Amino acid sequence: MYVVKSPLSDADLKIVSEALQGALVDLVDLSLVAKQVHWNVVGPRFRSVHLQLDEVVDVARAHSDTVAERASALGVSPDGRAVTVAASSGIGAVAEGWVKDADAVGTLVAALGAVITRMRERVAATGDADPVSQDLFIGITGDLEKHHWMFQAESV
Ligand SMILES: [Fe+2]
Repeated sequence: MYVVKSPLSDADLKIVSEALQGALVDLVDLSLVAKQVHWNVVGPRFRSVHLQLDEVVDVARAHSDTVAERASALGVSPDGRAVTVAASSGIGAVAEGWVKDADAVGTLVAALGAVITRMRERVAATGDADPVSQDLFIGITGDLEKHHWMFQAESV
């Protein structure tokens, strides 16, 4: 069922919808991973890492909404269901249980790195098909790379 007519050709829409859907699941999973670690972090750096993780949650949630609504605006139904996120996220599974602060930082470096790699691929893939969506991916990548920098700076 098509409710919203897309301004894009079918070929361009296929490229862009795959990129938006991939970004959606990565960002939803990033928000879940950051919350999981936010709740489970322990150690001397608890407070700073605990608070920093909620900044990532806020960024991931805001951007997941942006990419989902961009898909809707193009006439593509966004799929943010848990089963879909679990099946297609680019972030590896996080172990259950308490997480030492240094390991929490490492988990976020890895998770952000994985999402950034895929987001940069989306920037490259969507430039011709839809520069408007590409612009979203560029902005999202910039925000994620800022947080990636800060967690890496805590890893030394
Ligand atoms: Fe909290």
